[in-house]
Amino acid sequence: MKRAAGIAACNWVKDGMAVGLGTGSTVSHTVVELGRLISDEGLSIVGVPTSIATRDLALSVGVPLVGLSDVEILDLVIDGTDEFDPSFSLIKGGGGALTREKIVAQRSRAMLVVADETKQVQVLGTFPLPVEVLPFEWEVTMSRLSEICPGKVKLRGASKPFVTDNGGYIIDCDYQGVISNPKLLESEILCVAGVVEVGLFCGICDAVVMAGGMGVETLLKENGRIV
Ligand code: A5P
Repeated sequence: MKRAAGIAACNWVKDGMAVGLGTGSTVSHTVVELGRLISDEGLSIVGVPTSIATRDLALSVGVPLVGLSDVEILDLVIDGTDEFDPSFSLIKGGGGALTREKIVAQRSRAMLVVADETKQVQVLGTFPLPVEVLPFEWEVTMSRLSEICPGKVKLRGASKPFVTDNGGYIIDCDYQGVISNPKLLESEILCVAGVVEVGLFCGICDAVVMAGGMGVETLLKENGRIV
């Protein structure tokens, strides 16, 4: 299903586009397919990767890369998600790339998400919400985060902390199945000193290419930037 969604998303990529390349096992299929379209069908695009892993994959399949500051704006970013709700708000960061993913998404004309049907939820919050924090006194940042989280908060990696591409740590926050106001929670978490970024993406995603038992469908957000 991940492969089907990842490949189907390439239908939205047109010649001449600058494309943000997300991170994760679903969008990796998109990157590989883009490489194939470039070599076999002469597609001409440039990509901006959201992680070191995606950069390495893109280079290995022949997708030409540029820096984000080299382009005025990206035409499209394609990325995975850990959850999406009916208003197309997302939880991202299961792979730890949320900060670079949000930087790239905010500089894109539109965002297309690739997902299998298990990622579709009515309410965000079952997947632990990833928050990237500075390593400096991370225990203090985590303790502050625990005051605004009803469930457990924990450092990813336990005995040996998981380190992001930015040198940060990830705190996973259990919202026990309910984030009732994702936008508000995003701003509350961003107010905590030591927080680099939170994996809530609100008002950014325009469409989801979702693969399920019945095939692949594209869910378009009403009044979104993809039509
Ligand atoms: C990376 O940090 C994440 O935001 C991924 O995009 C997300 O976890 C989806 O990953 P999969 O496609 O591997 O499920």
